[in-house]
Amino acid sequence: MQTPRLGGVAYRGPWLHDGCARSLAQTLDGSCRDVELHGVADPEQRAEIVAYLRTL
Ligand code: HEM
Repeated sequence: MQTPRLGGVAYRGPWLHDGCARSLAQTLDGSCRDVELHGVADPEQRAEIVAYLRTL
């Protein structure tokens, strides 16, 4: 699978190739999939990464 570019990622949801992620946080915790993608389990870390993704 090709990894997507992250520039402007906050403006183009729903995310992941099948649109299963309804929030940026869901792209990180894999909660919309059976298969773990990024596996960021800690909510605080997820919030920090989401804040970063919103700046791209
Ligand atoms: C700081 C590190 C990373 C961040 C913040 C990050 C973030 C993201 C985000 C937000 C998406 C969704 C993009 C979209 O739907 O438009 C994504 C997709 C993806 N990422 Fe990452 N990623 C990181 C590292 C990685 C690494 C290391 C890998 C693989 C070794 C990876 C593999 C993928 C793949 C395959 C997708 C597409 C999945 C799909 O569409 O179903 N990512 N990433």
